[in-house]
Amino acid sequence: MQNPLIAKTIFSEIRKLKQEKDAVILAHYYMPPELQILAKDGGVVDFTGDSLGLSIEAAKTGAKIIVFCGVTFMAETARILNPGKEVFIPDREAGCSLASSITAKDVKALRAKYPSIPVIAYINTYAETKAECDICCTSRNALQIARSFDSDTLIFLPDVYMGRNLQKNIEKETGKKLILWHGKCEVHEQFTSASMVGMKLMYPDAEMLLHWEVPEETVDVSFNNRAGILGSTSDILRYVGESKSREFILASECDLGASLKGMYPDKEFITPCIKCPYMKKITLQNTLATLEAIGAEQENKYKICLSEDIMNRAYLPVKRMIDFT
Ligand code: 13P
Ligand code: SF4
Repeated sequence: MQNPLIAKTIFSEIRKLKQEKDAVILAHYYMPPELQILAKDGGVVDFTGDSLGLSIEAAKTGAKIIVFCGVTFMAETARILNPGKEVFIPDREAGCSLASSITAKDVKALRAKYPSIPVIAYINTYAETKAECDICCTSRNALQIARSFDSDTLIFLPDVYMGRNLQKNIEKETGKKLILWHGKCEVHEQFTSASMVGMKLMYPDAEMLLHWEVPEETVDVSFNNRAGILGSTSDILRYVGESKSREFILASECDLGASLKGMYPDKEFITPCIKCPYMKKITLQNTLATLEAIGAEQENKYKICLSEDIMNRAYLPVKRMIDFT
């Protein structure tokens, strides 16, 4: 447990350095609570959001420097959208099991096997993979983007669970078929159907909050005789605000519970508390270290560096996604 005085000192150091270096801090909702507090509320963060919200904010910011408190594929997306700015991440090892499940070479092989079928890449992919795809999407706009294609078959990669959940919705609505990759989110796959059955028995009045990345059997048992939402992080936040229920079972990253509790203090959120080990690589301490390093030789340890060719080719699929919102 960190000494509160030390935490307070780190907060004020970070705020001072942000101003000096003309930097903004963007933080994902899966960050630890201390990295979700906005600067205007006494914290250090300029914008908290889901992956789409953060991409939009990254495209809009007037600051010279972006410090991205999230995982590397998200920081890369911010860099792709901001060729004139520098983007830093407090730990470049902040990976993602989905993003590392597929490479540019894999996408080229898929294209060769299924020529002329459009390729939709989930934002949870690295820049080199994005560069080979037609359009990106996040969990918030995946359905909308899939609907927009005339083709009756689409390639969706890399999340097989999210793909199967999308497939159910899109097929019912439009008859479209999805060709899927075999990537899995190692966090959301732990929300098993057995764990949800148990939680439902323990909390008979709770509504269900499920991220698109959970397995399809989990979705089936969760909504069997129980209200709730299968959606993106921001869909979940919105749903809770609109629901009259006071109790919710959360099948998504544990620290999203902190955002939910902060926004809705009168409501209760029950979760098996599964944390993303990659998101948790980012701390208040290494965020401070990043800001201290900017402008010095050590900045390369934190800097997102992409070749011009990858930046140019990945820009179009990312921009197409942003234009959808
Ligand atoms: P969101 O698009 O909902 O922010 O999700 C990102 C992610 O990594 C989920 O595991
Ligand atoms: Fe990747 Fe899953 Fe972590 Fe999100 S929660 S960053 S999808 S491993």
